Amino acid sequence: MSYYKIDDLEQYFKHYKKSVREPRKFWDKIADENFTWYQKWDKVVEFDMQTADVKWFLNAKVNITKNCIDRHLAKRGEKTAIIFEPNNPKEEARHITYNELYEQVSKWANVLREQGVKKGDRVCIYLPMIPELAFAVLACARIGAVHSVIFAGFSASAVSTRVNDLESKVIITADGGYRGSKSIDLKGIIDEALEKTPSVEKVFVVKRTNSEITMKPGRDQWIQPLLDDALNNNVAEIMDAEDPLFILYTSGSTGKPKGMLHTTAGYMVYSAYTFKNIFQYEENDVYWCTADIGWITGHSYILYGPLLNGATTVIFEGVPSYPDFGRFWEVIDKHKVSQFYTSPTAIRSLAKENSEWVDKYKLTSLKVLASVGEPINEEAWHWYNDHVGKKKAPIADTWWQTETGGIMISPIPFVTPTKPTYATLPLPGVQPVLMDEKRNEIEGNQVVGSLCIKFPWPGMARTIWGDHQRFVDTYFSTFPGKYFTGDGALRDEVGYYRITGRVDDVVIVSGHNLGTAPIEDAINEHPAVAESAIVGFPHAVKGNALYGFIILKEFGETRDRDNLSNEINQFISSHIGPIAKLDKIQFVSGLPKTRSGKIMRRILRKIAEGDFSNFGDTSTLLNPEIVDEIKNGKL
Ligand code: WTA
Repeated sequence: MSYYKIDDLEQYFKHYKKSVREPRKFWDKIADENFTWYQKWDKVVEFDMQTADVKWFLNAKVNITKNCIDRHLAKRGEKTAIIFEPNNPKEEARHITYNELYEQVSKWANVLREQGVKKGDRVCIYLPMIPELAFAVLACARIGAVHSVIFAGFSASAVSTRVNDLESKVIITADGGYRGSKSIDLKGIIDEALEKTPSVEKVFVVKRTNSEITMKPGRDQWIQPLLDDALNNNVAEIMDAEDPLFILYTSGSTGKPKGMLHTTAGYMVYSAYTFKNIFQYEENDVYWCTADIGWITGHSYILYGPLLNGATTVIFEGVPSYPDFGRFWEVIDKHKVSQFYTSPTAIRSLAKENSEWVDKYKLTSLKVLASVGEPINEEAWHWYNDHVGKKKAPIADTWWQTETGGIMISPIPFVTPTKPTYATLPLPGVQPVLMDEKRNEIEGNQVVGSLCIKFPWPGMARTIWGDHQRFVDTYFSTFPGKYFTGDGALRDEVGYYRITGRVDDVVIVSGHNLGTAPIEDAINEHPAVAESAIVGFPHAVKGNALYGFIILKEFGETRDRDNLSNEINQFISSHIGPIAKLDKIQFVSGLPKTRSGKIMRRILRKIAEGDFSNFGDTSTLLNPEIVDEIKNGKL
């Protein structure tokens, strides 16, 4: 029996039991049968969940790009690996075969090597959704450099924070990028970011928009002439199973963003295995995930998962609303997409438009639909099921995180019966548990608790770059010996999981994780602001939006409130990025604080939601009178 692919529910339970009873044998067989190794492992896994030291496939030697590209060439050399669908529908789509991908990645890898990039160096990639982004990422993996893709919507200051944390010497960017009707001055943002990044020695620039940019002599170079001179084959670096593959930042509830480090072999095995099962990919399918490669979803399910399985994967440069609200559906018909993976926020934004935008397309090629990023509400689920899947394509509501590397809990299409708003069952190999406030595991069904994972899995992040203690504190200390996800969940009468949302100070806005602390830090830097508190509140399209309660310094009080609000949002935009802007701002004279000085956010959350019914116990507040003032200010 192969454990790589599950075909029916009975088999699911069989694999699941095996994976819990004998996890080592389970993963050993999957890794052994489905990948190309230079050398196999001495031991499947070694771990200590107290100190958060986890290693998979010890001493194995491998290169992930050999598995993504080279091994397919004999059979699939002329198969399309990547379909590039440009922002502008009038620009022709590009079909890149596995042979071409091999040549491109080889050229890029040779250029990076010639330019002095070595195994272990961190390379920051700040590119729009164009094929070069895939080439750059894979070229890094090819030569053993650690890629860190920075979402091209981040501001200069967010870029410099990340570049400095990584001490990167090399940045890969573009002159600009297209997004709907806008074009974005990526090189300008990089120039600004690099004013504060002493480590950077070289910047390679891809030409996309032909916009005018400045090139700093000695630092900046166009990449194309270098590629033109490079050889189109390349010998991959031999990597140890636990050598770092990439670092991707995710927001925390406090402090600076966390650079989640993923390593080579475990991530490879896990992203490939989960892709195969969740999307039920078959040889001639065309698969499309609408995420950005700047997020983990794009890493695991635009690039690595699909390419490891020899799939055809779509890279889409644009947005769902450009040139009109039918764009997604037009692309699905045009490329005969079989599996479609998007986010609840995209679904909701399209569902609120006239349904003619979707109903006029055939969408007959679709076999599997999937969703990720936040809980998918019932209404959005039904719209997706009725209008997009025509009630024929099962929806995989996939729960996972940057930290988990791949999908953890999700229905397997055609195997697991779906239930709207439920991520349903864990994949074989994943052992979720719900924990109560006393840190005990909650047994049985129809229960609610904090979601933890009690046994390691190959795709899990190994550490936070440069701060292992923070990794231990954030994920392995709340419930000692277990990985704590930060999410709450319920388990229903048949054992299905429903994720109820974050239990910490992270708010998910349009599928993006935003820690409230860094936003507050940005606001507090405004000269007129004394203090601030941010909470999330429900939003029809974005899932959640941000509500800011702001205390002004004395001189700020005389200023025009609308102007101030705009300035504050400007501050947030330039410190973090436009995604973190506040939808509502309320100026207040104080914040509800406990005697120990902690802001009681649960009260602010209720006020932001407009629910004034029951604030719970406020007896520990130092200033209970402020609650009425804030409430009345909102009314
Ligand atoms: C949330 C994205 C409910 C959750 C892959 C998690 C979800 C955080 C779902 C991770 C889902 C993601 N249902 N909630 N299907 N998928 N989440 O790191 O709170 O960007 O902890 O990874 O998104 O977000 P991240």
